[in-house]
Amino acid sequence: MREFTGKTAFVTGGASGIGLALGRAFAEAGMKVMLADIETDALAAAIESLRNFGPAVRGVTCDVADPVSVERAAEVSYEAFGNVHVVCNNAGVAGGSGIDNISLESWRWVLDVNLMGVLHGITTFLPHIRAHGEGGHIVNTASWAGMQSRLGFSPYAASKFAVVNMSEGLSMELKPLGIGVTVLCPSFVRTRISESGRNRPARYGPTQIPDRASPAGALAARLAALSQSGLDPSQVAARTLTAICEDELYVFTHPHVRGEVEERFAAILAAMDKAAP
Ligand SMILES: NC(=O)c1ccc[n+]([C@@H]2O[C@H](COP(=O)([O-])OP(=O)(O)OC[C@H]3O[C@@H](n4cnc5c(N)ncnc54)[C@H](O)[C@@H]3O)[C@@H](O)[C@H]2O)c1
Repeated sequence: MREFTGKTAFVTGGASGIGLALGRAFAEAGMKVMLADIETDALAAAIESLRNFGPAVRGVTCDVADPVSVERAAEVSYEAFGNVHVVCNNAGVAGGSGIDNISLESWRWVLDVNLMGVLHGITTFLPHIRAHGEGGHIVNTASWAGMQSRLGFSPYAASKFAVVNMSEGLSMELKPLGIGVTVLCPSFVRTRISESGRNRPARYGPTQIPDRASPAGALAARLAALSQSGLDPSQVAARTLTAICEDELYVFTHPHVRGEVEERFAAILAAMDKAAP
């Protein structure tokens, strides 16, 4: 999609971090922007921070884990701006620790938001984009954690591996229709991801806060520190706009993680060699 001006973007997780940076970048590129988020107060503050774009930026409360909520948010967007062209399935939460000490409720929460939330965005908007025929682009936020599993945040990495795979498949399916797909795989970005528990709905039970002295607590503290020293979200957003423009599938923002991906692929290829006749 080469022309942004006058088109519409719908961004989930738009009240904070990468989603808010994407919303700002789209507005600066002359697009109409609907920010969708579960956190109502943060959403209001996000829209206020973009007030210089006037009515071109609006917000809607939405829980991406609930397909009905995503459908409703889409209706609000169509009513406000007409056709939607860019859909960023970006809302995400981090949770978990080692695989055997994570509650099932925590697994469900992370998978419902990070994986099912992306699926709900696709199933809601894809028929609409196909039908209006004005072109479109779907951006799914995965992570570098979707490429390798070193962090030990099992539900998070599992959800992100799934989003990478889903995006690759979707890209092949939509190419003949001229609809682009991009999957974001950043490493640490300076956002509020380490405070994800603030948005955990009561139906998934209380947020597990590990004892700081435990291995899980130490890991959580290390990841929070790495996130705070990470990339500015605006850099991820700028790279994403280029990827939409150039119809690129993968967006990587941290070159130093290349070795870790190479290591994984080398291990996979070595194992495949053993299967060769
Ligand atoms: N920060 C990083 O280091 C990093 C690295 C790689 C990928 N990511 C991914 O980037 C995406 C954005 O996260 P961020 O880092 O900007 O964190 P963030 O916490 O700053 O923003 C996430 C937003 O998602 C919203 N959200 C959470 N649950 C929701 C739900 N059920 N429905 C709708 N909105 C919901 C939150 O309210 C918040 O506004 C996530 O998918 C995350 O996994 C982040």
